Amino acid sequence: MSSLTPFKDLVHRRCGLHLEGLAEARLVKAVEALQTDTDINDTSKLIAQLEQNEAMFDRFISQLTVNETYFYREPEALHWLADTYLPRRLAEKGKPLAIFSAGCSSGEEPYSVAIALLERYGERAKQLFHITGGDVDQQVLSKAQKGIYSGMSFRALNPALKHRYFHPEGRRFKIDDALRQWVTFCSFNVLQANADKLGPFDVILFRNVSIYFDEATRRDIQRHLKQLLEPHGILMCGVTETLGNDLGILELHQAQGVFFFQDSTLPSALPANDEPPYRDDPLPALAVLSETPPQPPENEPENESEHKQPMTSFNAALQQAHHLLNQNAFSEAAALLSDLLVQQPWSVDALLLAGLVARWQQNFADAYDCFKRAIYVAPECWPAHFFQAELFRLGELSDAPGQRKRGYAAVIRLLDASKQADGGLSVIAPPIPPGDAYFLATRYLGAQATTQGVG
Ligand SMILES: C[S@@+](CC[C@H](N)C(=O)[O-])C[C@H]1O[C@@H](n2cnc3c(N)ncnc32)[C@H](O)[C@@H]1O
Repeated sequence: MSSLTPFKDLVHRRCGLHLEGLAEARLVKAVEALQTDTDINDTSKLIAQLEQNEAMFDRFISQLTVNETYFYREPEALHWLADTYLPRRLAEKGKPLAIFSAGCSSGEEPYSVAIALLERYGERAKQLFHITGGDVDQQVLSKAQKGIYSGMSFRALNPALKHRYFHPEGRRFKIDDALRQWVTFCSFNVLQANADKLGPFDVILFRNVSIYFDEATRRDIQRHLKQLLEPHGILMCGVTETLGNDLGILELHQAQGVFFFQDSTLPSALPANDEPPYRDDPLPALAVLSETPPQPPENEPENESEHKQPMTSFNAALQQAHHLLNQNAFSEAAALLSDLLVQQPWSVDALLLAGLVARWQQNFADAYDCFKRAIYVAPECWPAHFFQAELFRLGELSDAPGQRKRGYAAVIRLLDASKQADGGLSVIAPPIPPGDAYFLATRYLGAQATTQGVG
């Protein structure tokens, strides 16, 4: 048994988090910090301390949670809520509605809902809606309560909204006080969600949280969250998590391209004019990759500004796919990339990520095709050359020594020309640092290798 196992078990039991893969590195750091702080190295003593000392446990958990969030993340869902679902539900109920952001991190999600509702209803929104955010991580909650944010939090927020609802505070921005007081925050563990203390809610946002839980835990969580919903209330997950949460506990629906879950045991409350249920409209499978020579796009969009909003969400989804890959959430990453490649079959970033995901999923021929397409559309894509060569070197495809050498040589040639070349990637950072790729390519090509004849 690894020395980390007791810590993993404790965190899994109390918070549901599944600390495998890359998350293990965070756990190692957190345990080291704990050993330094307490001057205790004995695992069972440390576990006992964590069990007894709530503040210590909170600090420990803070180092393990992934708090990545930003304003207006997945804006399609926010717009649908503010412009379609909530107005209709408000008319039906004729009394104020309650909205809960479960796993709200530093508050960007519940504040985004508040902003969208203020935009729609003006000041009246504060009487019509109660908005609450909850999280297991006390540190992010205290940041949410302060409402002070810096650059990355605003990456998807329209500058006009930023200007309207925030004011500069040093080099950061503070949310409008009245808005801050409207949204309330509470300590909340989704595994211990208790309907006596919280809810019921008309809408629960549970977005970009469930990816950190295994399926058994997701089932438990969905049962808990179901208890917190008003009859006909809805639960919304992030776009990449929808499939993983279709567990037969709540029923999945789609309206105007937005997915949500609802209790199927109640008479249907689907709003009129909704589209057919989700199951009739599955996500496309990973874009079919054929041997047909790739055809790059003939007409790029001429007017950038016309495409600004779709590009923003496309880029945000690419970042999300990269993040999922880094979290070893391969099927979720594959589903998202498949969707992105339908929208933009020649996105170099999406092709490269799809190649990496396919490789992790042992679909080596698909991985090869993705890298090939990335190179076709962006010959300067040194990461695609590198990973394609790796497929041969590692025996994942039967070796083609000439092609393998050409791949590594291309990496060296491209990085010789520019040490920090982005490799034609416009959104994600290269998945391997250029210095490492250069070093490895040189090594694999042979110490004396030169680029002559093989570039
Ligand atoms: C990636 S953030 C998502 C924030 C926001 N919902 C969004 O979509 O941008 C995930 C959040 O879930 C929280 N979380 C993890 N485990 C939790 C649990 N057991 N109960 C409540 N929140 C939890 C983390 O602390 C983190 O702040």
